[in-house]
Amino acid sequence: MASYNVNLHEVVYSLSNALDLVGVSHIHHGKRVAYMATEVGKQLGWNGPMMDDLFQSAILHDIGVSKTQVHKHLAELEWELEKDHCIVGHDLLQGCSLLSHLSGNILYHHSHWEVLERLELDDSTKLIANCIYLVDRVDVQTLREMAGGQDILLGKDRIWEMVRKNSGDWFYPGLVEAFMEVSKSDAFWFRLEREHVNGYLSTWLSHSGEKAVSFTELKKVVEIFSYVVDAKSSFTKEHSEGVAMLAHHLGREFALSEESCELLELAGLLHDIGKLRVPDELLEKTGSLSETEYCVMHRHSFDTYDILKNIRGMEQVATWAAQHHERVDGSGYPYMSGEHEISIEARILAVADVFQALAQRRPYREALPPEKILKILQLEADSGKLDRVVVAKVEKNLQHCWETSLLMK
Ligand SMILES: [Fe+2]
Ligand SMILES: [Fe+2]
Ligand SMILES: [Fe+2]
Repeated sequence: MASYNVNLHEVVYSLSNALDLVGVSHIHHGKRVAYMATEVGKQLGWNGPMMDDLFQSAILHDIGVSKTQVHKHLAELEWELEKDHCIVGHDLLQGCSLLSHLSGNILYHHSHWEVLERLELDDSTKLIANCIYLVDRVDVQTLREMAGGQDILLGKDRIWEMVRKNSGDWFYPGLVEAFMEVSKSDAFWFRLEREHVNGYLSTWLSHSGEKAVSFTELKKVVEIFSYVVDAKSSFTKEHSEGVAMLAHHLGREFALSEESCELLELAGLLHDIGKLRVPDELLEKTGSLSETEYCVMHRHSFDTYDILKNIRGMEQVATWAAQHHERVDGSGYPYMSGEHEISIEARILAVADVFQALAQRRPYREALPPEKILKILQLEADSGKLDRVVVAKVEKNLQHCWETSLLMK
């Protein structure tokens, strides 16, 4: 098993771009929360690992939300079942050795201070969770104030009022004090705008270094995001994981290096990450898509590249994942890549994607048996769309491919 040099902040930050896409109408929530939390933490003199934990937890705080339906509730100050996404997020991070220490911060990011202070938790968890809660509510209120193009400076008094009013019961008074101090300037509010928040966070990222992580550790981080994608629709449950395992298996059949097979597995896990932007209704739709809906659906592999392109050390993963809808005859999307631009890994991924999707039930058809899947793949190869040699490999061990794609292996 190879080890990979990655900047964990960068991986978390880039993949969290996908979470922000779920917002559809209010993109960048996670980033604004991370920016404000970091400012409050600095004001309180936090540093070192506590700041790293605050930054990553803030970026990831809504990881338990993949459905656009649920995301709509995040814009309410309090709503029934709000704790559900905290529990889902906590459970997701628990299973990942590089991020499990953040799970408590996520679990309590909607807990009132008066409850939190009585719990048997370490102080840093209480403070980080409550800091995220405070700035998260500020962001929600900010978006309300800015509705209809209103200048944020005209609404900040009402935001301060909400924060002060809840000091002591919802929020720890020390955090409230720090927030009031950092938000005094107009610049604090201007930095919430998209380009400023991006600039602020990129500077932060450049301060943290790379570290060597094992494939298993990296895969666990990546799996969290693939789970979030697959959880968007009941029909795509385990789709990414199945594509990943089948792509790895086919990579071996082609005697690709172990590293290429591992990277192919990561590309499989992430290939549909751009789908987080697609509204749930479209993924669940039983009838055919309208022209507009088709366009929305079609841009997901382009968005996948956009999310992955800045992770150093995962450039190949980004390229292969982005090309999973490219076709050998140049008729694919979004790049319409020609035959010579599509690597063997991207061809494998394309076949694995079609195979796994056909092996699963979809809203508009039942799951297909292996023989029928092979027939379809062969037709696609005959018409010059899928790679003929890859499809021949599938034919050679059809049953094994089928079981692998459905995670029976
Ligand atoms: Fe949030
Ligand atoms: Fe796709
Ligand atoms: Fe897919």
